Amino acid sequence: MKQKNTSKKIKKSQALWRHAQEVMLGGVSLLSKKPERFLREGWPVYFTKAKGIEVWDLDGNHYKDFSYMGVGPNLLGYADREVDAAVKKVINAGNQSTLNSPEEVELADLLLKLHPWAAQVRYARSGGEIAAIAVRIARAHSGRDKVAFCGYHGWHDWYLATNLAKKKNLDGHLLPGLQPLGVPRALSGSALPFSFNKIEELEALVRKHKDIGVIAMEPMRHHEPEHNFLKKVRTIADRIGAVLIFDEISSGFRLGFPGAHTRFGVIPDIAIYSKAISNGYPMAALVGKKKVMREAHASFISSTYHSERIGPAAALATLRKLERVHIDQYVERVGWLIGREWQRLAKKHELPIVVEGPGAFINFTFTHPDAQALKALFTQEMLRYEYLATPTMYVSYAHKPADIVHYAKAVDAVFGSLAEALRRGVVHRRLRGGLPESGFVRLT
Ligand SMILES: Cc1ncc(COP(=O)(O)O)c(C=O)c1O
Repeated sequence: MKQKNTSKKIKKSQALWRHAQEVMLGGVSLLSKKPERFLREGWPVYFTKAKGIEVWDLDGNHYKDFSYMGVGPNLLGYADREVDAAVKKVINAGNQSTLNSPEEVELADLLLKLHPWAAQVRYARSGGEIAAIAVRIARAHSGRDKVAFCGYHGWHDWYLATNLAKKKNLDGHLLPGLQPLGVPRALSGSALPFSFNKIEELEALVRKHKDIGVIAMEPMRHHEPEHNFLKKVRTIADRIGAVLIFDEISSGFRLGFPGAHTRFGVIPDIAIYSKAISNGYPMAALVGKKKVMREAHASFISSTYHSERIGPAAALATLRKLERVHIDQYVERVGWLIGREWQRLAKKHELPIVVEGPGAFINFTFTHPDAQALKALFTQEMLRYEYLATPTMYVSYAHKPADIVHYAKAVDAVFGSLAEALRRGVVHRRLRGGLPESGFVRLT
């Protein structure tokens, strides 16, 4: 396959990124969008336009996105016509007033229809925020402060507090070596980690700490629950009187509809959603059982933008379309179309990779000591064929089988050049700027 542009010019992006690091704390507001996490050199950084799976960068270059799709929200693809039409309608009609928007009540009805076990909803506008609200409500209901958790749930104090107790507690749960600077020391010992699929770790926690009132976890991420793991967690929560929160912020609508919990038939006390619920517009929702919501009602949770109109309007249009197109089945199927192409092409070029599902988060890893360098070289070389590409993908409804045929041709060429670099021992030399910053580690 012909390389369309071997020396993509990204001068404007690079200049803006240098400036951003001076004027914005950390340069970005979402760690996963930091360019150095993709590549030390050459990542285009800024976009001007995005539609479907297509992205145009600040320097006018064009790409197709076979990477993170906005890091999760764009399950229908970028700038979905139906969702955008619903948003434009409320913008034209006025998206804010002293009175409330009827869309938020309509959304509550829809969410409760999708969760027949739940009685009420609560809204926020981001994932970490709705997780913090869920933990607040759960603590208020149980009357106990300690949270046993597994996986990633955002940047808030309740969660980062785990690193206060024992410096390395979050290793394997979030980012190795993460510093809880600025998190009050008084929260030390309030958040206790356990690993996914290791019920014995949760058992040990509840034996040791009699005051655990909350269990928070993703029902699934990359690995299926084994040996009735979720049912066992549910049983433990019931036994100790803890509130069980399922974080469906990333798994929601992808691994089951409305969430992964539906796939396994285990019902939490609270489920939380964000990201794909509104296809790119800020929105987050919590659904909860009657007993939990009723008792927590008095806890003060209130914010001006929790009542704006775009989020619910976007969520209504998004949920209707996601349901209509059977999105969870679509991304499972299309994800594996991509996964099988990786397998076929790796075999052809004798590249050592392992492909893993689920389809929605299809991914491959290089089983080689130079895995980190190979992973980055894959991203670097795919840019030459006009792809934003990473070995872990968020598959969307905008990824069509015809796109995959074209993408596979680029992967064929890049896997060929990676195999050649491996044979000649020049993988590191070919990677401009050296190894990228290490990625996000989750144990779910
Ligand atoms: C499972 C889970 N919970 C919480 C969050 C935090 O969401 P946000 O980045 O919107 O604050 C994320 C984000 O990646 C997530 O995947």
